[in-house]
Amino acid sequence: MFGVAHTGHGYGTMLCPLHHCLATQHQPKDLPVAPDDHRLPEQDTAARVPVNAQPPSLTERPAWQSLQQHFETHHDLQLQRLFADDPLRGHRFSAEAAGIHLDYSKNLVTAETIDLLLKLAEECGLRKRINAMFNGEKINVTENRAVLHVALRSTAGTRVVVDGRNIVPDVHAMLEKMSALAEDVRSGRWLGYTGKRIRHVVNIGIGGSDLGPAMAHEALRHYSQAGLDFHFVSNVDGTDFSEATRGMDAAETLFIICSKTFTTAETLVNARTARRWCLDQLSDSDAVRRHFVAVSANVAEVVRFGIDIDNVFGLPDWVGGRYSICSAIGLSTMISVGADNFRSMLEGFRAMDEHFQTAPFDRNLPVLMGLLAVWYNNFFGSQTTAMLPYDQYLKRLPAYLQQLSMESNGKSVTMDGVPVNYRTAPACWGGPGSNGQHSFYQLLHQGTTLIPCDFIGFCRSLNPLPHHHDFLMANLFAQSAALAFGSTERPAVSGSTGHQLNAHRYIAGNRPSNTLLVEKLTPATLGALIALYEHSIFTQGAIWNINSFDQWGVELGKVLAQRMLPEFENNGISPAVHDSSTEALIGRYLRDR
Ligand code: F6P
Repeated sequence: MFGVAHTGHGYGTMLCPLHHCLATQHQPKDLPVAPDDHRLPEQDTAARVPVNAQPPSLTERPAWQSLQQHFETHHDLQLQRLFADDPLRGHRFSAEAAGIHLDYSKNLVTAETIDLLLKLAEECGLRKRINAMFNGEKINVTENRAVLHVALRSTAGTRVVVDGRNIVPDVHAMLEKMSALAEDVRSGRWLGYTGKRIRHVVNIGIGGSDLGPAMAHEALRHYSQAGLDFHFVSNVDGTDFSEATRGMDAAETLFIICSKTFTTAETLVNARTARRWCLDQLSDSDAVRRHFVAVSANVAEVVRFGIDIDNVFGLPDWVGGRYSICSAIGLSTMISVGADNFRSMLEGFRAMDEHFQTAPFDRNLPVLMGLLAVWYNNFFGSQTTAMLPYDQYLKRLPAYLQQLSMESNGKSVTMDGVPVNYRTAPACWGGPGSNGQHSFYQLLHQGTTLIPCDFIGFCRSLNPLPHHHDFLMANLFAQSAALAFGSTERPAVSGSTGHQLNAHRYIAGNRPSNTLLVEKLTPATLGALIALYEHSIFTQGAIWNINSFDQWGVELGKVLAQRMLPEFENNGISPAVHDSSTEALIGRYLRDR
């Protein structure tokens, strides 16, 4: 189905149906340069990162070149044939860890492809990179930080040293502090200012300070305490706050303000609105003490905001926002499911961490999934990847994984600051099955784009209504089979238009997918699943030799928005500041607002 076109410019081999578009979009080109007045004085990465004159070496590596040759001879692999030739393929191309079964047999690979990908991992020093992360080396080079979300799930006896200090006791002290608050709120010991017990918990944060808590709450809703409801306010659009708090009694509401930096504009605007909303009802600034807690690395700012220092849950600088779900950012999750379930979730994370660190690469789930992602991204030219959980509780997982992948690996320079001459992260998107089947799956089956998919399913339902779960899982298995093998027979359509109709109805198949099958959605299996994706994304970043742990790309837009605000306040555009499009749009907005 997918022919190839060789672009010859070092971006790997592109898909035929879109090769014109791909070839033009992916010519190596100069990175956009911000006008001088848009530069961020303290955040100019070029100023901080030593620029190495050496060209990036990934595409020159022997394993990469072998993969390129291998792709040229194997790009037309047919899944039907691969399965026919090897009756045990479905068993052979599978691996298992931490309660997760990975079937990767429906991928456009042979055993040789996997061997070459594994060689690439070795050549790229993946093992060394993994050890560097787990050992607390400062692998986030542009921010000079260790990357230790894995330490958040380590057992009490473990030693992880950062700047000469074992950080594990701090991790466990924080878990104790979180448990105390969570159990006080759940039991009704924590009372609001007027003596009422808390019934509503509102998490205010954005990005990693929202997506993780919101996803985990939804995913573990089955384990959530009855009588407490949870809301997540992230958007600075006032609608988010207004709808979340509509009709709520402030005397029964606890706000958790989550912001690692405590400078994120959206979160601060929402937090101030929350304080006003609370005081409008409770009429005493002392009430803030009983209705606001915060999670942040910036304790001074939290206290300046007016939150009691005892109600501040710290966040170390070695935890990145999108990797912070196991830190105090998970406070709302712990209040929702209780400390024991939260600790089970950490155990699931830990099981996958240990597997990633110790399992041989050919049986290592995150490594295999990461390498397959590289295979499609860099050799087939896939530009997106779809996450398809067949579980309503995981409806927010695609959005969570989107930040995890795209903010981590949406980079254009190597660790040394040299522009890459190969693709990095694909766009990551998705939605729960079976709903997606009735909207976007059409393109997955018959569109001109190759979109590798991850199906995620559970053998046992948490809500086993008669007929539902078998039907749901039949759909999951049917979809991965239909993508892989297409129409088993050409539909018979009679009449004069029959021939054309056949062409429209025919499904060619040969579209790749992974299937992750888990016995049951529990806190532990959720933890293992998230850690699996964290480490798969790490693997991809290691192959691409990029820094998966910074996010400088989001800064410019923040600065520009801040600069515009005074114009809005003064109701006038500053002359000669904007391009003509932005100027016209602001002018229209000011006129019509
Ligand atoms: O702007 C991007 C970002 O920095 C994300 O990386 C982060 O998860 C989010 O904003 C929120 O940041 P903070 O927790 O500091 O408010």
